[in-house]
Amino acid sequence: MALVSMKKLLKKAQEQNRAVGAFSVGNMEMVMGAVKAAQELNTPIILQIAEVRLKNSPLELMGPMMLAAAKNASVDIAVHLDHGLTLETVDRALELGFTSVMFDGSLLDFEENVGKVQKVVEKASRYKASVEAELGVVGGNEGEGKAHKILCTDPEKAREFCLRTGVNALAVAIGNAHGNYPVLPELRFDVLEQINKKVDTPLVLHGGTGITDEMFRKAISLGVRKINIATASFDHLANYAKNYCDKVDRANYFELSANEVQGVYENVKRHIKVFNCAD
Ligand code: 13P
Repeated sequence: MALVSMKKLLKKAQEQNRAVGAFSVGNMEMVMGAVKAAQELNTPIILQIAEVRLKNSPLELMGPMMLAAAKNASVDIAVHLDHGLTLETVDRALELGFTSVMFDGSLLDFEENVGKVQKVVEKASRYKASVEAELGVVGGNEGEGKAHKILCTDPEKAREFCLRTGVNALAVAIGNAHGNYPVLPELRFDVLEQINKKVDTPLVLHGGTGITDEMFRKAISLGVRKINIATASFDHLANYAKNYCDKVDRANYFELSANEVQGVYENVKRHIKVFNCAD
């Protein structure tokens, strides 16, 4: 098993009618927790980091660690740049050996998004890397800052976008949002169904934190092959760390680190089980 392209993982998921979990990581404990869960369930995953997170977790430190974890894992793992906002960061990720990059041009107008994504596809092909893009606007935001207003993906535009860019995965906006939902979202499965009818490209669901298992299964049945989970893992790590520190008089670094791994492991394992659609 090895470091693989995202395209390979999504193709297999399509054949098996399940989705691949794409788990965001920000430190070594998160990488270890996610890989431990994937190995235990013998299921391939995607390890990813978003451009807005690089202030806390620099790409030149995180990238080599994520790649090493993938190469040494007993399951296939793709290493992905999530929400690349600049072509420079996409280039840095490709240079490091990421097997997949997302260029997020969702706030650009359609033609500009197409043009930038075409450039990324061309560049990534030289590295045999896969490309994800976004059409429509997913709500919330990936880090701190102003929340984006949701704008559902237009199914006909999605078809044109995929044909003109040749992306390997398309992130859709169907009422989903990044971060913790204040109330359970009403996902527009009617829109997802239309997109799935018009587009052969594997679809991606962002904003996985807080979506119910039933909604995940429904999304998978309508062509979603990659599901992003970030906030739930960050929250699990923070809560496990807090609970540990609250319990002891004197915190021990090594025990704290083990608790962080455990928090992420539990969250990733729970999601992989749902995404596998085993029953
Ligand atoms: P959440 O933080 O809501 O899980 O979203 C993750 C995501 O979509 C990363 O791109």
